[in-house]
Amino acid sequence: MANLRTNLAGIKSPNPFWLASAPPTNSGYQIMKAFDAGWGGAVWKTLGVPVVNVSSRYGALNYRDTRMMGFNNIELITDRPLSINLKEIEEVKKRFPDHAVIASLMVETKEQWHQIVRDAENAGADGLELNFGCPHGMCERGMGSAVGQEPKVLKTIVGWVKEVAKTPVIVKLTPNITDITRPALAAVEGGGDAISLINTIQSLVGVDIDNFVTYPVVDGKSTNGGYCGPAVKPIAMNMLKNCAQHPGVTIPISGIGGVENWRDAVEFILLGATSVQVCTAVMHYGFGIIREMIAGLERYMDEKGFATLDDFRGKSSSKCETLGRSQFEIQSCCEHQ
Ligand SMILES: Cc1cc2nc3c(=O)[nH]c(=O)nc-3n(C[C@H](O)[C@H](O)[C@H](O)COP(=O)(O)O)c2cc1C
Repeated sequence: MANLRTNLAGIKSPNPFWLASAPPTNSGYQIMKAFDAGWGGAVWKTLGVPVVNVSSRYGALNYRDTRMMGFNNIELITDRPLSINLKEIEEVKKRFPDHAVIASLMVETKEQWHQIVRDAENAGADGLELNFGCPHGMCERGMGSAVGQEPKVLKTIVGWVKEVAKTPVIVKLTPNITDITRPALAAVEGGGDAISLINTIQSLVGVDIDNFVTYPVVDGKSTNGGYCGPAVKPIAMNMLKNCAQHPGVTIPISGIGGVENWRDAVEFILLGATSVQVCTAVMHYGFGIIREMIAGLERYMDEKGFATLDDFRGKSSSKCETLGRSQFEIQSCCEHQ
């Protein structure tokens, strides 16, 4: 029987399926329900200085008869008090000591980073994920993707966190950049223990053609948001492959973006992911999708004769070459035929 146990830079979980930092991880109650259903880990909804979230803040893109191809949001970090989140992290860890609970963090100053790292670790978090990916609202305040797009700043902040962190530090990258390997390398240089990608892609999901306002409409106004769900999977896989192939990216990767079933997860692992994170599919279908994800992954591994996830991790990333080189080899194959 396949063994799904996962270890990402020292963060252990019974399987590679983690909930991504998002609405399904905004409270201890939700995360305990998810663990009961079978999820192996959860990245808590990003903690920081409390904000106010607007309503409506979601939008979906349907394509012909398909609901829903992509999902758009203008949500910020958690709007629940830090003290309550910390208390709930403690409770979840007490009930689920073998599951991975990772605190997603986003603050501004060095002092704030030091304090929130200590708070999250004192509450019992198994690891930290630094949110350098949020492409709306927080980036205008100098956080989120504003950091993810500036490798030097990213490296500095990872360094601040590593000054006090005792648990593994995952650096969550933004896809809103031309070359994802630049911030990935900065994460390595800053001392990060792992990277995760992707966060959402800056987007505008639609326009209300009667009222002339873009979606989602909040009190007659709107703003750009972040795109995720099945539509972003090809972009996420390409960025994952680019990082996994890069000889300088020597730390493990948690893959995120459009994963909704066991087959998607296998693809991410084949491209080099150690764990996979899921947000939109859980918001759409509920925590119960984990049952088929686990069963499907076990079945696949048994059929292929893979005893552990290490047996097939990264098997496909080396097979994807730059076009110039593959074209050359394909041409010479043709010439020899
Ligand atoms: C409504 C919503 C809120 C999110 N909030 C956060 C957040 O607080 N912190 C974070 O790092 N990512 C956040 N994300 C991004 C997800 O964690 C994930 O990176 C992204 O949605 C891609 O995964 P998916 O295609 O499975 O949804 C959010 C996504 C959505 C849809």
